[in-house]
Amino acid sequence: MKNTFLFQKMKQEKEKITMVTAYDFPSAKIAEEAKIDMILVGDSLGMVVLGYDSTIEVTVDDMIHHGKSVTRGAPNTFKIVDMPFMSYHLSLEKAMENAQKIIQQTNAQALKVEGATKEILYLIQRLTDAGVPVVGHIGLTPQSVHVLGGYRVQGKNKQAAEKLITDAKHLEESGAFSVVLECVPDQLAKYISKQLTIPTIGIGAGRDCDGQVLVYHDILQYGVDYKPSFVKVYQEIGSDIKKAIQQYHYEVKNKEFPSSSYTFAMDKDLVNELNL
Ligand code: KIV
Ligand code: NA
Repeated sequence: MKNTFLFQKMKQEKEKITMVTAYDFPSAKIAEEAKIDMILVGDSLGMVVLGYDSTIEVTVDDMIHHGKSVTRGAPNTFKIVDMPFMSYHLSLEKAMENAQKIIQQTNAQALKVEGATKEILYLIQRLTDAGVPVVGHIGLTPQSVHVLGGYRVQGKNKQAAEKLITDAKHLEESGAFSVVLECVPDQLAKYISKQLTIPTIGIGAGRDCDGQVLVYHDILQYGVDYKPSFVKVYQEIGSDIKKAIQQYHYEVKNKEFPSSSYTFAMDKDLVNELNL
């Protein structure tokens, strides 16, 4: 399994880091088989798996439930679990308790938190001191969608750009071993990546980040209707799945399935004896 030092070394050696989200046993298993460097059990699970409008309804128990299945599917891949909405804002004590619960029950290697307020920076320091590696996340932070006023590119004016640069530096100083940059103009993401010694992982942040992350269901167009402009669809699995299910439906209705090759036959003598 890769580790936080290896990720830093990959940055130094200019080897791009790959991250993909996974939320259950099959997605994790396939990500591990694809040799992805790290798996994120993202709270995007609220939207792509649980059907919520945002990540705000996701709970600590949701993250644990899904995180455990990801660990079973990808036992040998470095796994990061998102701390969900408000699970790390009520008090340092409560945040540490939730972090402990998630780490001990999922057996993941690291946690991710959004933002870079004083409280978040201190939490990152405390978690790292306690032996829990932390990934920061700035730019578009979906848990704050209602404060940000929507899902849109961040850091577009001077003040916002400068804030992102200082936030990234503060995250590194607090002990974060990596930072996700979401929906940030590529020149800014490039600059931040150069300034930091820890790797940046971009999503909608250009190719100069030290690594990239995408949402599993987005890459596959699997059960998602909306495609953000920064998402590349590598295979349209959703429409193939629909075709398969439609065909199954059709064949059952038309008594084509199950044909004899999908049926258990009984010995002829026994059939006669029983008068079947
Ligand atoms: O929840 C998630 O999928 C994420 C990534 C988009 C970084 O936080
Ligand atoms: Na997330």
